[in-house]
Amino acid sequence: MNSIATRMMLEKGVEIVGAVARSEAKVGRDLGEVAGLGRELGVVVSDDAAEVFRRTSPDVAVVAINSYLEDAIDQLRICAAEGVNVVTLSEEMLYPWETSPELAEELDLAAKRSGATLTGTGYQDTYWVNMIGLLMGTAHRIDSVSGRASWNVDDFGPELARDQQVGATEAEFQEWLENAQRPPTFGRNVLDALVADTGLTPTSIKTTTRPDIASSATFSQALQTEVPAGHVIGMTDVDEICTAEGPRFVFEMSGRVYSEGDGDINEWAIAGEPDVVLSNGTVPTQLTTCTQLVNRIPDVINAPAGLVTVDKLPRLRYRARPLHEYLA
Ligand SMILES: NC(=O)c1ccc[n+]([C@@H]2O[C@H](COP(=O)([O-])OP(=O)(O)OC[C@H]3O[C@@H](n4cnc5c(N)ncnc54)[C@H](OP(=O)(O)O)[C@@H]3O)[C@@H](O)[C@H]2O)c1
Repeated sequence: MNSIATRMMLEKGVEIVGAVARSEAKVGRDLGEVAGLGRELGVVVSDDAAEVFRRTSPDVAVVAINSYLEDAIDQLRICAAEGVNVVTLSEEMLYPWETSPELAEELDLAAKRSGATLTGTGYQDTYWVNMIGLLMGTAHRIDSVSGRASWNVDDFGPELARDQQVGATEAEFQEWLENAQRPPTFGRNVLDALVADTGLTPTSIKTTTRPDIASSATFSQALQTEVPAGHVIGMTDVDEICTAEGPRFVFEMSGRVYSEGDGDINEWAIAGEPDVVLSNGTVPTQLTTCTQLVNRIPDVINAPAGLVTVDKLPRLRYRARPLHEYLA
């Protein structure tokens, strides 16, 4: 994601002043080379984010390294402490107020103190939150909002594939599910954002998870390994939130290694007056993740300080011109 976003930012006139990574394979090399652009950018990849921030005073840090706030907190703390705005792909940062309230509060306060804005965006921003919120605005009465989505683990890197337990046996999966401190599902944060966007009051929240199993040996591009038949190729989470005001939200999301004939799904149905459906499964998730990460940059720089979730930002807009022309 970082490599694609690097190309897109350059094509939108962004001046990249620094780059941060951790592995020996990247640190010390030119960003253009690391991102596979085939040319040098004159930006050497560092492993010291705070030093880069102090030396370059960036307008924004674009962060795409992990999914859950517990993992992302150290990097976000550095950004907040140094007063650097953040757009991140961290799925939990889409709406962390319910799943990690203490960390969210800490980041919000630190960002307000330093004048930074921290926002989680990505594919969910439009396709699972803001578009559904708009659609809900066309209803007179809502009984339920039901979403069903699937995405290909192999569209992304090893970080996500490991999170989705790709390669595990069914027994290992069940053990992980029962014993591990389960991080929030991506669907949970989506529903939390939708409930907050409409000012509803949650009364019950339930998540169930089942493994997706390979029916024949399946090669995982992300992990560069073959998953034997009968092993896990991903999982399906079903999140459900009931609200005091009536609307019930359900979101079934499958993230697995696709086989021949599999394709993305993104279908939403609002039941009430009237019934409304939305289906746009052929949207390429990999690219629309990075386009939203990049197109959100002006909104995040323009936003007030603090942890600001995408339901609070202006509607996402196409950016035809260099991004700095959209700054307030
Ligand atoms: N919101 C969305 O729509 C959306 C969509 C796609 C992906 N994502 C999330 O975005 C993240 C990146 O996805 P990806 O597909 O690009 O994953 P990836 O290919 O596995 O890349 C992750 C990168 O982060 C680096 N990294 C991890 N921890 C780091 C740390 N502490 N400091 C510096 N660098 C670190 C890794 O570098 P080394 O391992 O080489 O050090 C690697 O280059 C994942 O968590 C994924 O879940 C979100």
